[in-house]
Amino acid sequence: MHDIGSIDAVQAMLAEQDYVCGRALATVVFLALRLGRPLFLEGEPGTGKTEIAKAIAAAVGRRLIRLQCYEGLDAASAVADWNFAAQMIAIRAAEAGGGADREALQAELFSERYLVERPLLAAMRPQPGGPPVLLIDEIDRTDEPFEAFLLEALSDYQLTIPELGTIRAPAPPIVILTSNRTREVHDALKRRCLYHWVDYPGFAREIEILRARAPAASETLSREVVAFVQRLRSEDLFKKPGVAETIDWAKCLLALDVIALSPEVIADTIGAVLKYQDDIARLQGAEAGRLLDEAKKALEDA
Ligand SMILES: Nc1ncnc2c1ncn2[C@@H]1O[C@H](COP(=O)(O)OP(=O)(O)OP(=O)(O)O)[C@@H](O)[C@H]1O
Ligand SMILES: [Mg+2]
Repeated sequence: MHDIGSIDAVQAMLAEQDYVCGRALATVVFLALRLGRPLFLEGEPGTGKTEIAKAIAAAVGRRLIRLQCYEGLDAASAVADWNFAAQMIAIRAAEAGGGADREALQAELFSERYLVERPLLAAMRPQPGGPPVLLIDEIDRTDEPFEAFLLEALSDYQLTIPELGTIRAPAPPIVILTSNRTREVHDALKRRCLYHWVDYPGFAREIEILRARAPAASETLSREVVAFVQRLRSEDLFKKPGVAETIDWAKCLLALDVIALSPEVIADTIGAVLKYQDDIARLQGAEAGRLLDEAKKALEDA
């Protein structure tokens, strides 16, 4: 594992994973690792919240375990389930064999052998390389009872499975929670975590991200793409483009051998950047040209 003795070291190890991390984010990551506290990342879509968990796991050589949250997610789906089909087969086999000891069978049916491990349980168990990185992604999509359950699981890093008993993590996992803030996550959960708001990157950092993620794009094209996307974000759009869209767009333009933006190129490829018809419609006519001129002007002034 890397020496994560400083904020600079965090920035460097993430850079090795092609993750461009500003000083403020690097600081909370450093503190989360150093203090063993969960990290709560909230922010705009497509700004690298999920990706940083992957980058940290790869950088420190730990397994990444992801719990993707959704409405209706319950403890069984998050912790563990019983393999009903296998249990049924065992029952049938015992019946066919005759004379099986019913109590022994019952105990066997609710043993590890028939347990289907889900992400939270996996994260509490020893993993090769050390405690894993547990990514609890898009927690704002779950409901409050599940949040309360998580709070409990994260406060002492243990889980109880009624038929099996309590399972305690030998060492706490590195926990990263993300939210798009479609609703506020409860204070009690936030209080346990270090918090960071992940905003859209500024011009220079987004250029750096493109260099890392779309290295084939020329400097000129990258600068135009980033300037245009940044200009777009200040428009009143239904869904503003994230960093993911900037990267996608640059890759599309590369695939089309485009060397510089023009209103025509923008019109043909805007689907990589804007994903709502109303937003796309806004850019029709002279509008794309106007925004492009403004973006180029901002580039000259920069
Ligand atoms: N700082 C960064 N450094 C390198 N790549 C980045 C960075 N930020 C975003 N990306 C790129 O953008 C893509 C999207 O990022 P990611 O999926 O992590 O966004 P997110 O914040 O989780 O979005 P959502 O809220 O929609 O889930 C990543 O696959 C990655 O390629
Ligand atoms: Mg995400």
